[in-house]
Amino acid sequence: MQRIIVTGGCGFIGSNFIRHMLTQHPGLSIVNIDALTYAGNLENLRDVESNANYEFQKGSICDREFIERVISEKPTDAVINFAAESHVDRSILDSGPFVQTNIVGTQVLLDVCRSAKVPRYLQVSTDEVYGSLGAEGFFTEETPLAPNSPYSSSKAAADLLVRGYVHTFGFPGLITRCSNNYGPYQFPEKLIPLFISNLLRGESVPVYGKGDNVRDWIHVLDHCRGIEATLLRGKVGEVYNFGGRTELQNIELTRMLIKLLGKTDESIRYVTDRPGHDLRYAIDCAKAEEELGWQPQVGFEAGLQETIDWYVANQDWVERIRSGAYRSYYEQQYGERLA
Ligand code: NAD
Ligand code: DAU
Repeated sequence: MQRIIVTGGCGFIGSNFIRHMLTQHPGLSIVNIDALTYAGNLENLRDVESNANYEFQKGSICDREFIERVISEKPTDAVINFAAESHVDRSILDSGPFVQTNIVGTQVLLDVCRSAKVPRYLQVSTDEVYGSLGAEGFFTEETPLAPNSPYSSSKAAADLLVRGYVHTFGFPGLITRCSNNYGPYQFPEKLIPLFISNLLRGESVPVYGKGDNVRDWIHVLDHCRGIEATLLRGKVGEVYNFGGRTELQNIELTRMLIKLLGKTDESIRYVTDRPGHDLRYAIDCAKAEEELGWQPQVGFEAGLQETIDWYVANQDWVERIRSGAYRSYYEQQYGERLA
């Protein structure tokens, strides 16, 4: 591959993916398309912005003309779609942007890629499309879709569009579905970065309900390696699940964070539960292991400690988000104010 387009590359996983790909594939050109919503932070890629193989284009995946222009500038070997509204709590407050970006934006990308004959399209989806598990069992790629939040419903709708384009048009689409990611550059509205940054500031941490919901945690670089493997070796039309085989109740994880940061259980604040809160996610990633030769490489304890260390060393990154100052970096670089 010579040129790929990554959408949503200024977010958490997209920025880690771009850095990973630039390091692993020195001849590869990467164009990052990002609308710079509240979750998009140009500072996440400061260290690669002078790399001759990296280019940033500000714009929305919902903007057909813009997407057509970027895709047709040079031959494009693949489009990897990370761009999304990604936070469940925000989708409960207002599902509008989720329908626009996650569904309409995906449809625009599919149409433009199809007419430009882009040879590979990878949709970055989520395990949340499978709904919620009870105490037993795992999600496989055959588990029926049963999304429970406006966020996961919009992601499932996008997956079904990809499926429909593959089936109807022979479109070269692939889908990945991953469990909860953690690692550097995660926006501090999600559990791990929110709790770390609150604890560092001496604040309490809001645990929803009783904290007995279970998530399956995977380091973001293991997810990035899974997307890379799917891009290089995945079969068109297939879905691949990725997970870290690390199931934890939220309260267990909260206590780990509290201990690692030298605080006490007095930091815990139990708050009203998230409406429709999925009880448990757990991924069976045997297919990715067998067909792609992928395996998670980062042990949870080491990965969590390394993540804490990153947030400790980068408290200014969090503070610039909390204060809104991170939004001015785009203006500094491009001379245009962000809305
Ligand atoms: P994020 O919220 O950190 O980043 C999303 C990025 O998309 C931001 O840079 C934002 O500016 C950009 N964006 C939003 N709307 C856009 C639009 N209309 N056009 C162009 N760019 C737009 O999200 P994340 O956690 O990095 O997740 C990335 C993808 O991975 C999402 O599709 C998400 O559903 C999926 N995913 C996330 C997780 C997780 O644990 N975070 C797990 C599995 C799958
Ligand atoms: O499973 C993959 C999904 O993981 C991704 O598709 C989503 O984009 C990503 O946001 C994540 O969704 P969750 O809803 O699981 O992540 P979040 O960090 O918001 O919450 C993790 C768990 O912690 C969940 O059970 C809700 C709980 N929680 C979350 C927050 C923000 C709390 O108890 N308190 C909080 O303040």
